[in-house]
Amino acid sequence: MCGIIAAASNRNVGKLLVQGLHKMEYRGYDSAGIALHQKDQIAHLRTLGKVKLLEEKMIQEKPKSKLGIAHTRWATHGEPSEENAHPHKSNERVYIVHNGIIENYLDLKDFLKKKNYSFLSQTDSELIAHMLDYFLNQGNSMLDSMYLTKDRLDGAYAIAAIDLEDDQNIIVARNKSPLLIGIGIEELLAASDPLALGQLTNEFIFLEDGDVAELSSDSYSIYDINKKKVEREISKIDISSQATSKGEYKHFMEKEIYEQPEAILNTIDGRVGGDDILENIFGLGSSEMFERVKRIQIVACGTSLHAGRVAANWFSSISELPTQIDYASEYRYRNPHVDEDSLFVTISQSGETADTLAALRYAKEKDYLSSLCICNVPTSSLARESDYSIFTNAGPEIGVASTKAFTTQLAALMLLALSIAKGRKKNPKLRTRVVTALRSLPDIIEETLKLKETIIELAPEVASKDNALFLGRGIFYPIAKEGALKLKEISYIHAEAYPAGELKHGPLALIDENMPVIALAPESEIAEKLISNLEEVKARGGTLYVFSDPTISMDVKSGKLIKMPKCDFLLTPIIYTIPLQILSYEVALLRGTDIDQPRNLAKSVTVE
Ligand code: F6R
Repeated sequence: MCGIIAAASNRNVGKLLVQGLHKMEYRGYDSAGIALHQKDQIAHLRTLGKVKLLEEKMIQEKPKSKLGIAHTRWATHGEPSEENAHPHKSNERVYIVHNGIIENYLDLKDFLKKKNYSFLSQTDSELIAHMLDYFLNQGNSMLDSMYLTKDRLDGAYAIAAIDLEDDQNIIVARNKSPLLIGIGIEELLAASDPLALGQLTNEFIFLEDGDVAELSSDSYSIYDINKKKVEREISKIDISSQATSKGEYKHFMEKEIYEQPEAILNTIDGRVGGDDILENIFGLGSSEMFERVKRIQIVACGTSLHAGRVAANWFSSISELPTQIDYASEYRYRNPHVDEDSLFVTISQSGETADTLAALRYAKEKDYLSSLCICNVPTSSLARESDYSIFTNAGPEIGVASTKAFTTQLAALMLLALSIAKGRKKNPKLRTRVVTALRSLPDIIEETLKLKETIIELAPEVASKDNALFLGRGIFYPIAKEGALKLKEISYIHAEAYPAGELKHGPLALIDENMPVIALAPESEIAEKLISNLEEVKARGGTLYVFSDPTISMDVKSGKLIKMPKCDFLLTPIIYTIPLQILSYEVALLRGTDIDQPRNLAKSVTVE
C-alpha cells in the first residue's frame, strides 16, 4: 500500500527520492518522509499529507546527501500523523522505511520495551528500526542484523534501512511485499514499484521472498532466504515518462478513460488471428490444459471482481462451463470444495493485492488443475506465482480508481472464454462472431467516448445529490455495481447497485426526487422487463438516466435517455462501462474531490 524508495549514488539523492515518491503516491498518500545520510548525522524530514508538503520542506531545508531512503504512507497501524510517518528511527542511528504489515508486532514491541526501547509512534514498523539497532549493538553487521530481525518478523514486508555508522550502504529486505533494485548510472536504487525508478533506469532486479540485498553507489549483493549470495536476473523494462505523466489531461483518471481504445487494442493484439483465438496465448501448454477444464473458480477484489462476475456469464454461454466466484478476502475462509479439473483464475490489475495473492497461495495447496492470472503487471507476484497468465497491456494505471485496467480485464477474460471454448471444441461460429466483434471494439469505444458532452450536461444533477442507485440486469448487473463503486470512491456520493428486478423487493422504498437512478438498458431478451422496472421508478418520482440501445424508446420525464453505439451483445458490458466512468469523473470534478487519490484509498492493496 505504501511506497518505499532508496538510493545510493555519487550525486545528491534528495530530489530523485522525492520524485520517486511522487510517482508512487497513488499507492498511499496520507504522510511522507525521508532520511538522508550526511556522514555525521541523518537528516530526518516527515510531513502529514501529500508528498508535495514534504517537497516544500525539502526546498526550505535543502538537505544534501548521497544516500537515503523515503516513504509515502497509507495508514494501517496508527492514524495518519507526522509521528507515524516513516522513516522510523532507533537511537538516532538506524532509520528504516517499511511497506507491509508485521503481524506479531505486539509481542516484538513487548520484547523491545523490556530491552529499554521506547516507541514514538503507533506503527508496527518502528520496531524494525529498534530490532536492527538491538542486533547492531550486539556487534553484528547490518546484513546479519537484518537476518536476525527477519527471523523474528511474521508478516509481509519490504524494508530499506540505513545506519549512521555506515554512509556507503543501504540494506533492503523483501517478504511477500514487492521490492526491486534499479541499476542506474553510478547509482543503485531500490523501490516497491518500478514506476518510481522509471526516469532513472530501465534495468531492474525483482527480489524474491526472503531476499536481502546490500546496495552502494557502485555495487550490489543479493542474499537469499538462507543468506547464500545469489545472482538474480536483470529485466529490461522501459517505463517511459509519457506513460506516467498526465499530458493534456487534468487527471490521470481522465487520461486513462480516454486511453481505452488503444488499451483494448493492445489487449487483443497478437492474440486473435483469422476468425478464431490463437493457441497458447496464456502460456505454453495452456491450450492443452483448457481441453480438460470442467469448472472455473474466480477470485479477485473490487473492480477486478466485477470483471470476474461479467466473465462468469461468458464462461457459461461461450465455454459452457460453470463458474464459482469469490471475494479474495473471503475465499480461504469458506472451506472451498474443489471439483476435479477446476481451473483457479485470479484477476488483478496490480498483481500484488494481498488477499488475491493469499488466495492463490492457498489454492496452490489444493487440488486445482492449474492456476491462471489476468494481470496488468507482468513482473508482479501474482504473475510470477501463477501457472499461466495473460497481461492486459493497459499500460500503467496511476489513477486509484480503475478504468482502463477494468475494460482490458474484460477483454482478456473474453479471450479466456474463447480459448477455453476452443479447447473444449465448443461454439466455433460464436467464437468467430466474437473475434470479429473484438476487432471493432476499439472503434466503438472511441465512438462511446464522444458521449462526454451529453454526460457533462447531466453531471450537475447527480453531483447535487447524496445518493444514487444503479440498475442493470443479467450481465449488466456487475457493470451497474462497477458504476456505483466508481461514483462512490471518487465523488464520495453513496451509491448502490441492484439487479433491476430486485427493486420491488425493498430498494424501491428509497426512491424519491432525491434519488437519481442510473440504468443500463441494452437490447436484450429482458429489455422489456427492465423497462417495466424503470417505469416503477418513474411512477415514484425517481429521476432516470438511462443508457440504452438505440432501438429502445421510453419517456424518462425529467431524466435523460442516452443512446449507446451498437455493439455485439456479448461485448456490450465493456461499452456500457465507459459512460459510467465519465459520469463518475465529471461528478467528482464538480464536487472538487481528489480524483486521482481519493481519501482513505490506495492503488495497490498489499495488506490483507
Ligand atoms: C476500484 C479499484 C479497486 C481494485 C481492487 C483490486 O476502482 O481499483 O477496487 O480493483 O483493490 O485491485 P487489483 O486489481 O490490483 O487486485
